[in-house]
Amino acid sequence: MSEPVLEIRDLHVDYGFGDDPTHVLRGVDLTLHRGEVLGLAGESGCGKSTLAYAATRLLPPPGLITGGEVWLTDREGRRSDVLGLTDAQLRAARWRDVAIVFQGAMSSLNPVFRIGRQLTDGIRAHRPGLSAGDLEARAAELLEMVGISADRLRAYPHQLSGGMRQRVMIAMALALEPQVLLMDEPTTALDVVMQRQILEQIMELRDRLGFSVVLITHDVSLLVEVADRIAIMYAGEIVEEATASEVYRRPRHPYSAGLLGSFPPLHGPRRELSGIPGAPPDLQRLGPGCPFAPRCPHAMDVCRDVRPVLGPPRTGEDRRVACHLHDADLVAAGVGEGSGAISGVGLPPELAR
Ligand SMILES: Nc1ncnc2c1ncn2[C@@H]1O[C@H](COP(=O)(O)OP(=O)(O)OP(=O)(O)O)[C@@H](O)[C@H]1O
Ligand code: SF4
Ligand SMILES: [Mg+2]
Repeated sequence: MSEPVLEIRDLHVDYGFGDDPTHVLRGVDLTLHRGEVLGLAGESGCGKSTLAYAATRLLPPPGLITGGEVWLTDREGRRSDVLGLTDAQLRAARWRDVAIVFQGAMSSLNPVFRIGRQLTDGIRAHRPGLSAGDLEARAAELLEMVGISADRLRAYPHQLSGGMRQRVMIAMALALEPQVLLMDEPTTALDVVMQRQILEQIMELRDRLGFSVVLITHDVSLLVEVADRIAIMYAGEIVEEATASEVYRRPRHPYSAGLLGSFPPLHGPRRELSGIPGAPPDLQRLGPGCPFAPRCPHAMDVCRDVRPVLGPPRTGEDRRVACHLHDADLVAAGVGEGSGAISGVGLPPELAR
């Protein structure tokens, strides 16, 4: 596997100050490798956007990073802790090293300025030395790169389709040739054909320009198509992380299995959609055990008392799972035996394939 470019370690985020904050991220560990597309999926409210904002230090108040580290490796191989950068260092690194396309970004284009002006303003802020002619040439190049003819530089946002506006936002994010592109639901508001076109284009650009991508979406079937690896998030934690094909073919966490059963696959045989019963937990009232226990068809006694952790990959496996069903120590100690649920041979069939 290539070298890590973004490493998120034990990241904690609270919303709200005082005695009763909500713990929204609870020890997130995630690594993005150079050139990789890492998909991040989970139901609404699980903390996907919070993770993207926190990792780039763009978290708005009352969000507060209460612990952890975010390491970025630049093109020269120098590692720096994003959370320890001064404001000036952070301004320099943002967009040049890490760029983000925000959720709902296409509606954040300024309606009263032409697309060309908005693109050149963005580039000028970081490259003040460029002449007006060079700025315009770069804006035209960026627009063409995302499949929009350069003559649309003179268009106002309302003269473009939703898909084109979203492409403009992606062009802006790529303006400084970042090495990491974080995209939060970049295509959710678009129809399926447009979603596919835009994602294919991003993958082409990734191959050509060599950046790495974190692609955030609640639609896990989309990730199966485009991501190299997938991380599944639930209630502010990563509960499973593996290659996209492993997550698709053999989800190990009951929540991953439920999530995959909630979306129709874009390819292959049709599957009956099963969905997940119940709703995500209230993050202010989480008990000590597994946050998925109230919805989990395989919950055992231990699940209600002991929180499973995302362990290091087991020997021979390129996968991490936070679930007692896969906890080697508990299996060895015989916890759950009798119920048949936790011994190796007794794994529920859909999680043991
Ligand atoms: N300003 C805020 N104050 C308090 N809680 C917040 C605030 N913003 C977000 N939250 C809470 O943080 C949790 C995570 O929110 P976040 O927006 O990161 O989720 P998400 O996974 O991106 O959801 P979606 O798929 O809907 O975009 C949610 O439970 C939300 O209620
Ligand atoms: S730890 Fe227990 S409750 Fe949580 S997902 Fe695994 S089996 Fe289900
Ligand atoms: Mg979000």
